Amino acid sequence: MSTADGLLAAIDGVGADRRRGGFSRHGFDRAELELREWFVGEAERRGLAVRTDRNGNVWAWWGAPGPDAVVTGSHLDSVPGGGAFDGPLGVTTALAAVDLLRANWFVPARPLAIVVFAEEEGGRFGVPCLGSRLLTGAIDPDAARRLTDADGVSLAEAVAEAGLQPARLGRDDEALGLVGRFVELHVEQGRGLVDLGAPVGLASSILAHGRWRFRFTGEGNHAGATLIGDRRDPMLPASALVLAARRAASGVDGARATVGRLVPNPGGANVIASTVDLWLDARAGDDAGTRAVVGEISAAAVSAAADEGCTVAVTEESYGDTVHFDAALRDELSGVLGDVPVLATGAGHDAGILAARVPTAMLFVRNPTGVSHAPAEHAEAADCTAGVVALATVLERLAG
Ligand code: GLV
Ligand code: MN
Ligand code: MN
Repeated sequence: MSTADGLLAAIDGVGADRRRGGFSRHGFDRAELELREWFVGEAERRGLAVRTDRNGNVWAWWGAPGPDAVVTGSHLDSVPGGGAFDGPLGVTTALAAVDLLRANWFVPARPLAIVVFAEEEGGRFGVPCLGSRLLTGAIDPDAARRLTDADGVSLAEAVAEAGLQPARLGRDDEALGLVGRFVELHVEQGRGLVDLGAPVGLASSILAHGRWRFRFTGEGNHAGATLIGDRRDPMLPASALVLAARRAASGVDGARATVGRLVPNPGGANVIASTVDLWLDARAGDDAGTRAVVGEISAAAVSAAADEGCTVAVTEESYGDTVHFDAALRDELSGVLGDVPVLATGAGHDAGILAARVPTAMLFVRNPTGVSHAPAEHAEAADCTAGVVALATVLERLAG
């Protein structure tokens, strides 16, 4: 019988990022494909029947695929330089929960599956939860096919390289129609469970969340020869946006705004950039709060660009409104898990996308560092095991 931490140890070297630290595993890249292969091997070793859907999500079925299935799982990709647990913990606990259920002679009365969603972080193509958005129809497949990575490779090209048919990307009612209920286990990405002294919790909601790309255009020029008064430097309005993001988010209760990626072109130390691309990640308790934050930041960006003789173009790359998980399902799970804490989260998840279509719940496992999307993300082995036991209890309840 496997443990979740033992399974995590087995994939520890895959996608290790020496430059950034942590792991860089992105949708359909070498590391993520290796992890998919590993998952398929683990699933088949357990006699689960593996299928990859039209959008590159991998499903491993215990019993014949059929309607009203109980599905669990998460993702295997990471942010650039991410931790070991965000995503893989939900997959490894699912495999270990199947082992535990079998050791207890459990036989599911309805179909049960583990799913691995593609490109959850959007670390390669920019749109988070890409596999689950495509599956549920939450993204236009033409727009998805045109997404490109940092090297200019399109999603269509990447999936074709991985053996999928780009033309078949998109809403898949056949695959989704089998899902009766979905439960995703995830490492907690804050300090909620640490502060409450609990190893496992349930999710109540996810913040509204979007990503916007700002392209500032100025005039590329020489860092030494160009007088200050003659410059049109797009780095100035980009910097103003970074400061405006902190200001705007501070003014809306519970809001967050982050600039985690900024790319000057051409990017030379002695070159005034001709363009700067910058990505804003903004979240708040509701749509109005999120839009207000982004509106204030955008206005500051437009004004700072004009002051510097630059232009700015804004593109909304992804958006999702606040998610409230199914209250009846949560209460049912709370009943079998013994009143574990219920937490809201600021992090996005495939479960949040599926929640629009099927009753969905999430389990969190305590993260002693409270840090996530960074190498310090952690879960103790004993808490991973508590997560496996909780997930097995939930699956037994829902599929029994
Ligand atoms: C994904 O984890 C996100 O919240 O961006
Ligand atoms: Mn994440
Ligand atoms: Mn995740």
